[in-house]
Amino acid sequence: MKIAGSTAFVTGANRGLGRRFAEQLVARGATVYGGVRNVASLDVPGVIPVAIDVTDAASVAAAAERTSGVSLLINNAGSYTGASVSDGSLEDIRLEMETHYFGTLAVSRAFAPQLAGNGGGTILNVLSVLSWVTYPGYSGYAAAKSAQWSLTNALRLELAAQGTTVAALHVGYLDTDMVAFVDAPKNDPAVVAALSLDALEEGSVEILADEDARQVQANLAGGVTRLYTAAG
Ligand SMILES: NC(=O)c1ccc[n+]([C@@H]2O[C@H](COP(=O)([O-])OP(=O)(O)OC[C@H]3O[C@@H](n4cnc5c(N)ncnc54)[C@H](OP(=O)(O)O)[C@@H]3O)[C@@H](O)[C@H]2O)c1
Repeated sequence: MKIAGSTAFVTGANRGLGRRFAEQLVARGATVYGGVRNVASLDVPGVIPVAIDVTDAASVAAAAERTSGVSLLINNAGSYTGASVSDGSLEDIRLEMETHYFGTLAVSRAFAPQLAGNGGGTILNVLSVLSWVTYPGYSGYAAAKSAQWSLTNALRLELAAQGTTVAALHVGYLDTDMVAFVDAPKNDPAVVAALSLDALEEGSVEILADEDARQVQANLAGGVTRLYTAAG
């Protein structure tokens, strides 16, 4: 796809990775809608704020109605509760599914007609290495990221008929609020946004943003023994 001259809708555009996507899309010549829960929280120059809570069907429908011409949808909004599946709060585990799985599903379905009307367009879903591997403390989130990965693959197959390209971004830690509590090397979200947009322009449907993503994907071929031995 060509970003210059396109119209993009980015969920969670006020901070973290979504903010970097929004800034860089503007810099590359796109018209950018920033989908945010609180429009007052969006201060990215040139980005048009649109209220959206991806877990609220009415809010998602209203956001799609308030926008037009969207040819690039970035499903970036994300939550992290820290709930483990064995003993975490079910409410938190459901929130992860509501945000990552049902949220991405709802927003993709709501914007699919606009994408179709603009030549098919592109969807980028922000996934994770945790779509492929899980750890205690991350398992509620990882289950939702796995579901979002399956959803991404299904949308790619099912929206091909309308000419929509569906891409996945897999990445390890990003230096954002979500994992501010983690003391480990993290990717610069600006770098990840830039390489992802480059990859979309090249037509990639699977973007492995760092060595963690490449390693975990390679370990999948060895089955769970290899995956969890390698993951420690
Ligand atoms: N951080 C990491 O290490 C990491 C690694 C791999 C993948 N990811 C993924 O990268 C994406 C961006 O995460 P981030 O690191 O930038 O996180 P972040 O800094 O915590 O930002 C999360 C964004 O999502 C928005 N959001 C959350 N729930 C929402 C909802 N129901 N409706 C609309 N917006 C909602 C937040 O809005 P508010 O400001 O209103 O809360 C915020 O803009 C997520 O999909 C995450 O799973 C993150």
